[in-house]
Amino acid sequence: MKLLLIGGGGREHALAWKLSQSSHVEEILVVPGNPGIARVPKCKCVDLALDDLNKMADYAEENSIDLTVVGPEATLVAGIADIFRSRGLPIFGPNKAAAEIEGSKAFSKRLMKKYNIPTADFQVCTDLETAKSFIAEHGAPIVVKADGLAAGKGVVVAMTVKEALDAVTEMMADHKFGAAGASVVLEEFMDGEEASLLAFTDGKIVIPMVASQDHKRVNDGDEGPNTGGMGAYAPAPVMTEALRVKAVETILKPVIAALNKEGRSYSGCLYAGLMIKGDEVKVVEFNCRFGDPETQVVLPLLDSDLADIMLACATGTLDVSMVRWKQQAAVCVILASGGYPGPYPKGLPITGLDEADKMDDVIVFHAGTRMQDGRIVTNGGRVLGVTALGGNIRAAKDKAYAAVDKIRFEGEHHRSDIAWRALKR
Ligand code: AMP
Ligand code: GLY
Repeated sequence: MKLLLIGGGGREHALAWKLSQSSHVEEILVVPGNPGIARVPKCKCVDLALDDLNKMADYAEENSIDLTVVGPEATLVAGIADIFRSRGLPIFGPNKAAAEIEGSKAFSKRLMKKYNIPTADFQVCTDLETAKSFIAEHGAPIVVKADGLAAGKGVVVAMTVKEALDAVTEMMADHKFGAAGASVVLEEFMDGEEASLLAFTDGKIVIPMVASQDHKRVNDGDEGPNTGGMGAYAPAPVMTEALRVKAVETILKPVIAALNKEGRSYSGCLYAGLMIKGDEVKVVEFNCRFGDPETQVVLPLLDSDLADIMLACATGTLDVSMVRWKQQAAVCVILASGGYPGPYPKGLPITGLDEADKMDDVIVFHAGTRMQDGRIVTNGGRVLGVTALGGNIRAAKDKAYAAVDKIRFEGEHHRSDIAWRALKR
């Protein structure tokens, strides 16, 4: 198979790394890729504009691509899968109408309500005055969410009424997230522990992956501002086998069936962000793609051929026998630029990458790097994801941090407590 992979972050490096291990894959063209991906066997990075979807389809056709795999949500929400499918090009990822499950939080919440999928109570508001009076009436805590895509920044968990009022004003009057904030979802606050459950689906059957947990706050002890994710681990013990079965039966299967019923058949990876409290599991959000950094711990635990699974998702031939997992654990520590998630410098040389990468059961995924004068330098807030495998979470964590110790760049920041919730149990 010849593959086209779209994206250039840590998630796509993990996808490229796993796909390259398939004996059925000869070549992977990655748009735009990154310096880490460029070193993965069989991978070649290609500089194409990501926003021109027709050009991408031309490219896939010209290069006889057997399967296209899409990383980022924005490309799916923009409708890349519709264009590829209309031209007979197999693609892993949902059509535009199905990707709305992430593209519009209002759509996603209404769908869950209509089909009795457990989630927090909510109200959709399209004008500021209604939103303000709902907040005043409801009180705090309350969660304010921009309806559309906001690069993971459109959610405010407001602990006071003032915070909530400020958030809706920023979204609806100051247009902080542009059109994405024209509607907001006001949501009941849910207490509990979060976990991510990703699943493969071909639109008919749903196969969950191992549950994982990411760490959104920038500092140890889950303090400081939210980030795109400072680390992750899998499997997440908060998701017991009983809860996993419950999540599959009451959430994953019903939502795929609901989307089918609504004429929005979904295939690809479905990401369920879940809140767990006692024996209750509720949906925080759905995403229409792999999670980042979750992918950097989930895919290393996959014991099967990812290319075969993805092709089966794209062609409606998925079977449970295709997906097996290693009985191991994985921990990923993100190395971020100093200042992130605020402003940060770029272009700083990174050392120790090869030493870390050489370690057994360690993979250094690149998230925000670029080549400059023959050297790898920083190029983003989240720079690297250092993943290690081990017999259990403790062993994987120790190995990941041993690898992290070998890597240096000026101002580098990482959390030292990734997987603490699992270890506390
Ligand atoms: P989302 O982008 O919808 O996943 O929201 C980002 C983060 O905000 C989630 O990972 C949760 O930590 C938090 N969050 C979202 N909705 C709620 C809720 N209803 N109750 C409590 N926390 C929430
Ligand atoms: N780790 C959160 C996400 O990928 O949305």
